[in-house]
Amino acid sequence: MIDIIECGRLKQKPEKADSFGKVFTDYMYVREYADGKWGNGVIRPFDAIELLPCSSVLHYGQAAFEGLKAYRDGRGTVRLFRARDNFARMRTSCDRLCIPPVDADEALDALTALVDLERDWIPVERGTSLYIRPFVFASDESLGVHAAHNYKFIIILSPSGAYYSHGFAPVALKVEREYVRASKGGTGAYKVVGNYAASIKAGELAVRDGYDQVLWLDGGERKYVEEVGSMNIFFVLDGKVVTPALNGTILPGITRDSCIKLLKAKGIPVEERRVDIAEVLDGAKSGALTEIFGTGTAAVISPVDRLGDGGVDYTIGVRGKAGAIAGMLFDTLTGIQTGVIPDEFGWVVKVGK
Ligand code: COI
Repeated sequence: MIDIIECGRLKQKPEKADSFGKVFTDYMYVREYADGKWGNGVIRPFDAIELLPCSSVLHYGQAAFEGLKAYRDGRGTVRLFRARDNFARMRTSCDRLCIPPVDADEALDALTALVDLERDWIPVERGTSLYIRPFVFASDESLGVHAAHNYKFIIILSPSGAYYSHGFAPVALKVEREYVRASKGGTGAYKVVGNYAASIKAGELAVRDGYDQVLWLDGGERKYVEEVGSMNIFFVLDGKVVTPALNGTILPGITRDSCIKLLKAKGIPVEERRVDIAEVLDGAKSGALTEIFGTGTAAVISPVDRLGDGGVDYTIGVRGKAGAIAGMLFDTLTGIQTGVIPDEFGWVVKVGK
C-alpha cells in the first residue's frame, strides 16, 4: 500500500503531446533512504524538492536514472514496456555508484500505482506515450567524497511526443574524433548522470556543425563505434544487420535488446561485434552501407540518413527516408507497445483494470 497525498488543484492537460520531457503530470513518487534502509514511498503532488546547497549530488554526481514508457491501447488498457528490465538495470547502475539499490519489484509496484493514478495523462496519438523517468540520487548534506548515507528515489511522468523535433524523420550524426564518452573500467555501461554531463560539449559542437548527435568511438583506440549517447546504433552493411557488441563501455539498451530479439524472430541474423569506423565509412563510400538507425526508449527507432566525418558528409540510403529494416522495427516495436501486435515476448506489463 502506497500513501497518496492529494493535489489541491489538478493541472490542465495539454491537448497534444508534441514535445519531449517538458510537461509533467500532477503526481510524482518519492522514497527516501536514511539510517541504512529505504523508507516507505509516497505519491505526492509534482513539485519542487528541497535540497541544501551542500547536497552531495550537486557536487559529486552520485545519481542514476532510467527511461521507460507507458501506452494506452485501443481498449483503454495501460501498458508498460519492459519495466522490469529498466528497474533491473537501475540496480546495476546503483551498484556501480555505491547507491543502495531499490528493490525492482517494489519500484515496479510504485510505478504501477503512480501510472494507474495518472492514466488519463497518457496520450494516445501515434508516436506519443507517457515517458517515465525514475531517478535516484545522493542527498547527504556534506562535502566529503564518499558514498552518501542518504538518497532519494523519485519517479516523474511526462506525456511526450517524439524525442527528436522532426519525429521519425532521419537524423544526421557526426563521427566524434576528439572527445570520448567512456573508457574501459568507467561508467559507460551504466545509466549514470555523469555520462550525460560529459557528452554535452561534443553534442553542442555537433549541433553547431549541422548534425543532430555524435557517433561515439571507443576511448582506447578511437577506432570502434560505440553508441550515440541517447541511442544504441545499428548498421545494415553488405545486407547484414550489425551492431557494436556490449563491451563494458556501451549502455545495454533495452530497445537495442528488443530489436535484436525481433530481428532474430523474423529470421534476420544480427551480428553483435566490434564495428570499425573505417568499415562503416568504406561502406558509405561504396554503397555497401544501406542503413543506419539508432534505438532507444526516447528515440524509439531513429533512422540516420547522413553521417559526417571531418567535414565530409555521406548520405546513407535515401535522404529523408527511413530504410526498410528501421521502418519494420519501428512498426513492430510500437505495434507491440500499443497493443496492435501481440506481445509474444512477454514484454508488456498491464496496469490496473
Ligand atoms: C531514454 O531513451 O530514455 C534515455 O534515457 C535517453 C536520453 C533521453 C537521455
